[in-house]
Amino acid sequence: MSLTPTRADKFSFGLWTIGYNGADPFGGPTRAPLDVVEAVTRLSELGAYGLTFHDDDLFAFGSTDAERQNQIDRLKGALADTGLIIPMITTNLFSAPVFKDGGFTSNDRAVRRFALRKVLRNIDLAAELGAKTFVMWGGREGAEYDAAKDIRSALERYREAVNMLGDYVTDKGYDIRFAIEPKPNEPRGDILLPTVGHAMAFIETLERPELVGVNPEVGHEQMAGLNFAAGIAQALYQGKLYHIDLNGQRGIKYDQDLVFGHGDLYNAFALVDLLENGSPEGGPVYDGPRHFDYKPSRTEDITGVWDSAAANMRTYLLLKERAASFRADPEVQEALAFSKVTELAEPTLAAGESYTELLADRSAYEDFDPTPYYNGKGFGFVRLQQLALEHLTGAR
Ligand code: GCO
Ligand code: MN
Ligand code: MN
Repeated sequence: MSLTPTRADKFSFGLWTIGYNGADPFGGPTRAPLDVVEAVTRLSELGAYGLTFHDDDLFAFGSTDAERQNQIDRLKGALADTGLIIPMITTNLFSAPVFKDGGFTSNDRAVRRFALRKVLRNIDLAAELGAKTFVMWGGREGAEYDAAKDIRSALERYREAVNMLGDYVTDKGYDIRFAIEPKPNEPRGDILLPTVGHAMAFIETLERPELVGVNPEVGHEQMAGLNFAAGIAQALYQGKLYHIDLNGQRGIKYDQDLVFGHGDLYNAFALVDLLENGSPEGGPVYDGPRHFDYKPSRTEDITGVWDSAAANMRTYLLLKERAASFRADPEVQEALAFSKVTELAEPTLAAGESYTELLADRSAYEDFDPTPYYNGKGFGFVRLQQLALEHLTGAR
């Protein structure tokens, strides 16, 4: 298995990731701005297939139409020269001061209408550039204080916004689906739709739920103390994994946006195994972009920026190779069978069986003996985890 990224691997990067200038709440930039043409050229050389961006990454907020068009034309030129594509676009509804209380859910109705217009304009651009996914990260959709935001009104306004956007792409005939990106907090004290689970429940309330899925980010779920790979498994199970943001996070703290695998490496291994090898359940698999939403650390120079971009892809491919070796190992297969991992794919009821037959089945209850489970055979999960560790570390 090759560790050299190719277009077939579908690696994509946000323009805001490699373009991050190192500014944080405590200090200004440590790197010069990165031009979009250089970004496209370098990403292409490194083996990526796609670039994604917020409107404001490409042309500054408040740009004239001419400035905006000039940047779009420069991007298109670079795409034509390299063959890179734009799989996803997103709208910045968080940087400009007007969005300090949110976009779709600002308490200020005029701001909400402005936010919708900004998004509609950007959806047209997404269609023009052939992007198939439109991400919605509502970083400012939230509050610091409970009395400051009526959550039910805010959710109703969120729903109103997403329903209208669904009408728009449908009426225009655009081949675009939306992906909501959950995050528990930062920049707001509490953000609406804070986890994958909240977002998936919200999606079911929409008028066109089929148009809307999730864009989970590794670090965001881990900021909430959740198991990212498990959340992705549920999103896949519900057919809602429309996009994914890969990065690294070390525990419950600020959003670190580290290189993929530079946080919880075990969970990154489990994630790549899931994305690449699926589940005995079968069902929907993810064939979309492997999108990196990381920030090259403030301490790095431009060489470090490109090294870190390459590191994301190499780590993914390393984990893919390690996951394949884990799955191919006969001892792992035997351990999986011993642990009954595969038995879980077997329905609990027999074909056509209902509670009537279950109630009549004495072996299920009256004659079932639960006592050997005490001091009897264990499940062997620890051995399985150690086998995973040995494959992960290259010991096998
Ligand atoms: C974050 C978010 C953002 C979004 C991006 C797309 O780090 O908090 O992930 O980077 O992904 O703004 O809208
Ligand atoms: Mn993040
Ligand atoms: Mn993200």
